[in-house]
Amino acid sequence: MAVQRTFSIIKPDATKRNITGKIVSKLEEGGLRVVASKRIHMTEAQAGDFYAVHKERPFYQDLVNFMISGPVVVQVLEGEDAIAKNREIMGATNPADAAAGTIRAEFAESIEANSVHGSDGEDTAAEEIKFFFTDAEIVG
Ligand code: CMP
Repeated sequence: MAVQRTFSIIKPDATKRNITGKIVSKLEEGGLRVVASKRIHMTEAQAGDFYAVHKERPFYQDLVNFMISGPVVVQVLEGEDAIAKNREIMGATNPADAAAGTIRAEFAESIEANSVHGSDGEDTAAEEIKFFFTDAEIVG
C-alpha cells in the first residue's frame, strides 16, 4: 500500500478536556505523521458545509452545534495506508462499539462527542484536506 494523506479533526469534547496531546500520541504511535495542524474555532457555515453530506440526517444540526461549541484541531496525517490506519486507530464511530485501545474507546464521551473525525476514503480525504488547508500549509 502506498503512502497516503488523510484528514483528521480533534473535536471540541477533546480540546475542552485538554487531551489533544494524548490523541496525537496515539496517532503517532500508530505510524501516522502530522504534516499539517492548526487549532481553529469553526463557524456555523464552515461546520455546516463540512458535514453537508449528513444534511438530511436527524443529528445534523446537533452535530453542527457541537462542532462549533469550542475549538478543534484540524490536521493532515501522512503514512502507509493512512486512511484505513487512521480509522483503525480512531475506532468505531460509536464509542460503545469501539475496540479496546482505540481513541474513541479510551476518550470518547458519546456518538456525537466522539473526540475525533477521520476521512472515510481517498476522495473524501482529498476534499476534506482542501477544505481546511492550502498546499503551502502541508509540510511532509
Ligand atoms: P464523524 O466521523 O465526525 O462523522 C459524522 C459525525 O456525526 C460522527 O462522527 C458522529 O460524531 C456524529 N453523529 C451523531 N449522531 C450520529 C449517529 N446517530 N450516527 C452516526 N454519526 C452520528
